[in-house]
Amino acid sequence: METQIGNIHLLSPFMNASGVYCKSKEQLIKLDNTQLVGCVVSKSCTFEPRDGNPEPIYWDDGSNLSINSSGLPNMGYKFYINKNITSQINKPYIVSVSGLTVKDNLTIIDELLKNLDISGLELNLSCPNVIGKPQIGYDFEAMDKLLYQANLLVQNRKLSDKKFNFGLKLPPYFDMSHFDIVSSIINKYEIDTITCINSLGNGLVVDPKSETVVIKPKGGFGGIGGSVVKQIALANVRRLSQLTKCDVIGCGGIKTGTDAFEHILCGAKAVQIGTQFYIEKHEVFERIYNELLDIMSEKGYKSLNDFCGKLKVIN
Ligand code: DHB
Repeated sequence: METQIGNIHLLSPFMNASGVYCKSKEQLIKLDNTQLVGCVVSKSCTFEPRDGNPEPIYWDDGSNLSINSSGLPNMGYKFYINKNITSQINKPYIVSVSGLTVKDNLTIIDELLKNLDISGLELNLSCPNVIGKPQIGYDFEAMDKLLYQANLLVQNRKLSDKKFNFGLKLPPYFDMSHFDIVSSIINKYEIDTITCINSLGNGLVVDPKSETVVIKPKGGFGGIGGSVVKQIALANVRRLSQLTKCDVIGCGGIKTGTDAFEHILCGAKAVQIGTQFYIEKHEVFERIYNELLDIMSEKGYKSLNDFCGKLKVIN
């Protein structure tokens, strides 16, 4: 079950999706201590600490449908790169970065690169929940400009230390031409990993009984996660692993070992768990790991590479 994402070697392909139980020091340490979590990902951080949106900001149906509009509550980037945290985490540690401006993103990345205890960054181009801040991942010109600048910073660091992992978290794309455009931008830079996909931005869950929305911010609109997004996630994993040279981390709709198997078959080298982690808490990792192991042994697969990206098409 070992795998490699960019420059990072993982003993397990499972990790948390950024945002779920990874904001505080206690939560990060708990993730680090959770069996079969291969890598710890932080809550997306901004330059300054933020409280986020007014509650309720999250809802799920208890089975596997979720909506969130947290609004980036986080402790500020300094917290996530401080020795006080990094010295406590023994597994690979990825800091998710979601600055509110280009300047903030570049400042955070620059500071993060100076910290040799951090395995890499996941630059979040796809937060749908901050009012007045569109997702950069849907503005190809802005995305290209930001990546150009971020890439220069990362390259400088790599000259002295090859091990830093430059990753992106992307929104879902729904058009074949968008896959082509995004991958041609990504391929211009030395990006090691891409995480596909963030939540489906700005969905709406309705409670027909009370005739209300289920979360407060933005009139009830929020990012949709869970099984309902799986097929979109699989398409993004598949197409972007074909079109880019990056290792793809699959995220979206993973509730069972079969879901993880499908993501890996489509080309994911590792997978993140969001909604189901929220619902089932830390036991989810061992359960899904064992379910995937069972599927592999039934099929006679000895390693993830035996089936990673080997989805068959109909001729
Ligand atoms: C938040 C939600 C996201 O989907 C994301 O990528 C970053 C932050 C949030 O609402 O806090």
